[in-house]
Order: sequence, then structure tokens, then C-alpha cells
Amino acid sequence: MHFVAIAIDGPAASGKSSVARRVAEHFGFLFINSGAMYRAFTWWVLENRVNPADSAAVLSLLHRSRFECALHGRESVIRIDDRDVTEACMRLEAVNGTVSTIAALPEVRRVLVARQQDFRSMGDVVMEGRDIGTVVFPDTPFKFFLEASAEVRERRRRAQGIDDNIRERDLKDSSREADPLRAAADARRIDTSHLTLEEVTAKVIEILQIEGVKPRPPARPVMSWVYRLTYDVSKAFFRTAYAMEVHHAERAAIPGGAYFAANHASFLDPPLVGTALEEPIHYLARNTLFKPPLFTWLLPRLNTVPVDRDNAELSSLRISMQLVKEGKKMVVFPEGTRTPDGSLQPAQRGVGLLVAKTGVPVIPVRIFGSFEAFPRNRKFPRLDGKIHVVFGHPIQFSEEELAAKGKAGQQAISERVMQAIANLAVPENGS
Ligand code: CDP
Ligand code: CDP
Repeated sequence: MHFVAIAIDGPAASGKSSVARRVAEHFGFLFINSGAMYRAFTWWVLENRVNPADSAAVLSLLHRSRFECALHGRESVIRIDDRDVTEACMRLEAVNGTVSTIAALPEVRRVLVARQQDFRSMGDVVMEGRDIGTVVFPDTPFKFFLEASAEVRERRRRAQGIDDNIRERDLKDSSREADPLRAAADARRIDTSHLTLEEVTAKVIEILQIEGVKPRPPARPVMSWVYRLTYDVSKAFFRTAYAMEVHHAERAAIPGGAYFAANHASFLDPPLVGTALEEPIHYLARNTLFKPPLFTWLLPRLNTVPVDRDNAELSSLRISMQLVKEGKKMVVFPEGTRTPDGSLQPAQRGVGLLVAKTGVPVIPVRIFGSFEAFPRNRKFPRLDGKIHVVFGHPIQFSEEELAAKGKAGQQAISERVMQAIANLAVPENGS
């Protein structure tokens, strides 16, 4: 299937970002805000106290900085020299006032345009900016140019509570020599002054549908051969030894990153959750488990991230959060350790911390029978009994719950997750 780019250009507050994000969601494409890259670099210039008017100094900074454009779900996120560039950094008043000066430098544009074009290897894109239809993807047949009167656009910015001299920025952006703001000759122009976001979005989607753009089904991550082999062998074992049954796996089929939160009774639990699903997922394991040479080799290939129990707050948790932010799924155990007696234990705060920091949904999972099969006090599993794995509906925590500060807020999230696990039962009709 060949690459599809949808270009949405226009002046400040014409509605590019809002429309592009919705169009991308509709078609399952990546949403890339090219302005964010110019803003991120401008923030970096200011952060490094480089004079924006000194183009030699700006270019020297450009060439010695490492610019990383990664994906967070279907949207791009920017890191420069390992620093996350947040939305707040990019929306600073100082950035608004300086970005057009920085974006007028041809060398800055050359570097950032190349990074924008790199996204073609990651999937189909809806990209918004000033020169997407003219410079970044000039060959795409899908180009839009959004417009609105300056008064309307200023009103929109004020309503957002943003201090932004957009007239000045527009003037600089349209009068610069390098890739100025202008509509491509073959772009469809839409005056959005008197349209709502929904109306503009519907119009763009309708045009694209008529032109034959089709939604992309979400891509499934693929299993490496080591993961696949271990998966097949474990699944066959669980089915033979314990007649493993999986219930409501369809509830786990949500796009993007998420945590599977399961009760913990046995070493069998991580592979039980893993083999209950059709796609590869990620795991956390005590770092001491990585000691034997076979495991040193095998565990990373089974997507397992080592956790230092005594130092659990630090690096491994950061890695695990990064993984879910990139759209991966990971199994976690809110109880922290395996149950000593088969009953559910109180929730620890850890899961709440992960959820509060990442904002991704949690899919509760209840495992029945793994305690009987392989409890803590046994060296080897029993080879009989019955195991059920039951998935619950994904829980998306509200902004309010996620923002609840400190340990108490995190503990509350963990407890709600644990309660959702406790509420799961094996369906009576065996579905
Ligand atoms: O959201 P808003 O329209 O205010 O601006 P933006 O898309 O975040 O872009 C910020 C600035 O980056 C613009 O004013 C341009 O100077 C520059 N830019 C550019 O030169 N070329 C692009 N493709 C995107 C943004
Ligand atoms: O990306 P760009 O600067 O072109 O605009 P935006 O950030 O998508 O939109 C700026 C603001 O205008 C947002 O608060 C939108 O909700 C609002 N807007 C609107 O009210 N009606 C439209 N037709 C387009 C945008």
C-alpha cells in the first residue's frame, strides 16, 4: 500500500491542529503538527540563551542538538538532547514572539522539513503547518488550505487565553523567502470564519472520502520469532495442562498504550495474560530474574523490562512509562507480590503512580486457578486444575482523577483498579 499524506496548511488559529487531529483520528492516520517542531527548536534556542537574531549561533545550536521525533500513540512528541519538550514550553509567549524569526532561516527549514518527511516510514499522515502542500509533500493530491479573517482568528486565540500576536506572525510567515505561508495552487481553500470545527472537519472528511481515501485498520504489532515460539509453547502448555479458557479478550482490543492490571497468585500469571492475547505485550520482572545466562538472553526478547525492587521508582519505571506512551501494552500487578493464600490482597500505590503519570487506560484482568496450579510455596507447578483468564472493560481515568495530587491520589487509582479486578467473574454461560 503506498504512502498517503494529507496536507493541511493555513495561518495561525485557522483551525489546522484541531481539524487535522480529528481527520487523522477518523482515518486512523498519524497526526503530525509541524509547527510544534519549529516551536520546540525555538524554545531550545531561548533555553540555551542563544540570541535568535544571531543566525550563526542559532545554526550552530541546531547542528549540535539531537532532535528526536517519536510517536506517542498516533501523535508526534519531540525531545531535544533527551529533554521532553512539553506543550507548555512550546506555547510560551516568548516562543510565540520568536518562532517566525527562527522558522525563516532556510537551514532550520531544511533540517526540520527532512524530519517531517521521515514520518512517511511510520505510516500515513495528516500533517499541518504552513508549507506542507507546497514543500514537505508537494506531490500529494490531498491538500487543504484553511483560512479565516484576522478578527475571527484573534478572537479564537483570545478565547483560548493565549497571548499571541498572530497578525505579526502571519506577516513574517507569508513574507519570508524560504517556503513562505501560501496555498498550493492545487489546494482546496476553506474559509472557516463562520464554520464550527465539526463543520470544517466533516467537509474535509467528505472530500477525502470522495477522492478515495480509506480508513486504515489499526496495525497489529508483530511478534519476534522468539516471542512467537515461547508464546506458542506456553499457550499449548496452558491449554493442555489446565484447559485454559479466555473470556472477553475483545475488551482488550483498544488502540494505543494501556496497562493490563491483573491479580497476582503465581509465576504463571505474566505468561497467562500474554498468551490470552493475540498481540505481543510487555512485562516487568525483578532484575534478579535476569541473572541466569539463559534469562539474560531470553527475557529482553520477551519484552521484559527489569525492575530493581529497592530502587523501583527510577529508571525501569521510566522505561515502562515510555513504552505505554509509545502505544505499547504492559502487564502490571497492583498487589505488588504474589498472594500467600489465594485471596486478593490490598492494592499497592505503584499502579496508580504509573497511570497518573501516563494517563493511559487500564484493562482489569482476573486470573482464576493459577494459585492452585502454582502457589508461592511450591517449587514446581501442579499439572492439573483449571485456569480462566477474564478481561474487564478498559477504565479511562478522568482528568480530575489523574490530576489528584500525591500519594493519596495514586493510591485511590490503584484501589479502583483492584476493585475492578475483584468484580470480575467467570461468565456463567462460558462465553
Ligand atoms: O498553531 P499556530 O498556527 O499558532 O502555529 P504553529 O502551527 O504552531 O506554528 C508556529 C510557527 O512555526 C509559525 O508561525 C511559523 O513561523 C512556523 N511554521 C513554519 O514555518 N512552517 C510550518 N510548516 C509550520 C510552522
Ligand atoms: O492550529 P491552528 O493554530 O490553525 O488552530 P487551532 O489551534 O486548531 O484552533 C484555534 C482555536 O480556534 C481552537 O480553540 C479551536 O477550537 C478554535 N476554532 C473554532 O472555534 N472554530 C473553527 N472553525 C476552528 C477553530
